Amino acid sequence: MAELLTGQVLRFHADPFTAGPEAAVIDTDGAVLIEGGLIRAVGPAVALRAAHPQVPVTSHGRNLISAGFVDAHVHYPQTAIIASWGKRLIDWLNLYTFPEEMRLADPAYAATIAARYFDLTLAHGTTTVCSYATIHPTSVDAFFEAAQARGLRALTGKTCMDRNAPEGLRDTPQSAHDDSARLLAKWHGVDRLSYVITPRFSPTSSPEQLEALGALWAENPGCLMQTHLSEQTDEIAWVKSLYPTARDYLDTYERFGLVGPGAVFGHAIWLEDREKALLRERDCALVHCPTSNTFIGSGLFDMGGLKAAGHRIGLATDTGGGSSFSMLRTMAAAYEVGQLRGRALHPAELWWLATQGAAQALRLDDRIGNIAPGLEADLVVIDLASTPAIAQATARAEDLWQAAFPTIMMGDDRAVSAVYVGGRRI
Ligand code: GUN
Ligand code: ZN
Repeated sequence: MAELLTGQVLRFHADPFTAGPEAAVIDTDGAVLIEGGLIRAVGPAVALRAAHPQVPVTSHGRNLISAGFVDAHVHYPQTAIIASWGKRLIDWLNLYTFPEEMRLADPAYAATIAARYFDLTLAHGTTTVCSYATIHPTSVDAFFEAAQARGLRALTGKTCMDRNAPEGLRDTPQSAHDDSARLLAKWHGVDRLSYVITPRFSPTSSPEQLEALGALWAENPGCLMQTHLSEQTDEIAWVKSLYPTARDYLDTYERFGLVGPGAVFGHAIWLEDREKALLRERDCALVHCPTSNTFIGSGLFDMGGLKAAGHRIGLATDTGGGSSFSMLRTMAAAYEVGQLRGRALHPAELWWLATQGAAQALRLDDRIGNIAPGLEADLVVIDLASTPAIAQATARAEDLWQAAFPTIMMGDDRAVSAVYVGGRRI
């Protein structure tokens, strides 16, 4: 059944990093027509009401209707260890992350965490995530079953690690290949689910494992491949010692066929010039994880420079290295990191990164991440005065971006007044 949603509707007709803030189209008295899980029309409410007089209307008042947030890099198994104190990357992995990921060997625990994770992300207005699972194939099943039950578009893959991880959290080149292939055949393209080939990162994969996963990707080029790249300087030094003949960190992936369109690299902070040039040439995606990069002390992603050079870039929480489930909080952190690098990101750029930019990074921008006819009806409705502090800051706003920026900087799940998944309000 069709439904007309009215409110202040925000969509993008271009990338604001290249087209400027005018890339955003804002219908202050706007409407979105949804039917059969899809967006059918968008425009001024008066015109859509007149064109569809029989369709029931749901008014969202002055609230902002946007595409649902897309979180391009997360670790759902780390839900319970978010905000763990005091470590940098490698120690954080060993002390907090690996023991927790071990617990997901129990399918019942994995199901509990997957359900908890989606409850949290949906409450924060995030309608698509691209997650790492654990090495356990059943952790992929738990994630996809929970996403499927909620009608979500969602992506994950079995995390592959065959070295530098504790006993019980290691696979082998062969089992990583075979388990990944089996899960891919089982889940990829089922409902709204996509399988992602997922070597954790070079330090925890042998060259033989990366080679096996490169071969699997070559056989399944329609899948994405996700991994981590150049997050911390100590990590990079470790990679160089583990792969002494590699030209740089990216070369450890390149030599095994893991650098191509559809590759999604998390963090990408400390890139060398050769790496930047190759990532651009091969149209790989880079994912900015600002709350994680400050929380674990990794560094300041060069959004201004990399966007100006034409890179495909999305935004992500990186929970639980990231310290929030909220893409609003993540936009705020991206703004703060931009300020520290001398580039104040415009609110239109921040919002675009959390919706269409992240969808582009996942090569799903023909389905999600914007409001346009034919796209899937995954929407978030945002109250721009959700707390007294935000309300008083927006009171004098003269345009939508002035009204939205306090919510970007100070908002959280209290700002999310409604979420639609595949056209269904949840
Ligand atoms: N590098 C390898 N694994 C991880 C992880 O789980 N989180 C983060 N932030 N970086 C990683
Ligand atoms: Zn990560």
